[in-house]
Amino acid sequence: MADLTPLLAVRWSPLAFDPTAELTAAEASALLEAARWAPSHGNVQPWRFALGRRDDETGKRILANLPARDQRWARHAAALLVAAHLADPPATAPPAATAAPGTAPVDAFEAVDAEAFEAAPVDAFRITPADAFEAGQRRAYDLGQAVAHLSVQATALGLYVHQLVDVDHAGLAADLDLPAEVRPHAVVAIGRLGDPFALPADLLHRETGLRRRHRVADLMLR
Ligand SMILES: Cc1cc2nc3c(=O)[nH]c(=O)nc-3n(C[C@H](O)[C@H](O)[C@H](O)COP(=O)(O)O)c2cc1C
Repeated sequence: MADLTPLLAVRWSPLAFDPTAELTAAEASALLEAARWAPSHGNVQPWRFALGRRDDETGKRILANLPARDQRWARHAAALLVAAHLADPPATAPPAATAAPGTAPVDAFEAVDAEAFEAAPVDAFRITPADAFEAGQRRAYDLGQAVAHLSVQATALGLYVHQLVDVDHAGLAADLDLPAEVRPHAVVAIGRLGDPFALPADLLHRETGLRRRHRVADLMLR
């Protein structure tokens, strides 16, 4: 731990959130700004978010799509954020290269003129049928990175986040009326630390248990 930046060293995923704390507009803005500046494959920025607060309609709809066991603690978070990403783009063949006959082949991507590139969907020139399958994985990876950025910013603000992927994804899409091309992936509970002794016994046990990690040596493949 000694070498970790404090922003990472003090981060953890609590269950006990302060049921009176609010997420201010400035805090919400800083969190989303941090997510916005995350790196992404091809700078596609596929992440999309829906922010609900404890007592607003969006917050209630998000909460209803969490497992009952998690609603017990997540209902106290100041905000619930749906972290979503754009769906896989349809597989398209790369545009034909515009090399004149007899000249050396021109890379299809390089041959696309700048204006057409700006106007086209971001992935249109990148995704071929052969690798379209991997696009969804890239987008989920990018989204995770954006949420990691958000988590660090939250720590800097004295906020805590607890991510959940074991949620009703179809229910979230329906209840929040999300566009068809958006795939909800996780819910991020955000708030201030609460009193762990106010938790039900099983959650208090989880909350106060030791946090464990593999040794770095066990992570190294070579
Ligand atoms: C992508 C992702 C999904 C997670 N899903 C759940 C979940 O469905 N339920 C839950 O209680 N915690 C969930 N967590 C929290 C993890 O259990 C937690 O991060 C892990 O146990 C390590 O604990 P720490 O964050 O306190 O270091 C999730 C975390 C991540 C990053």
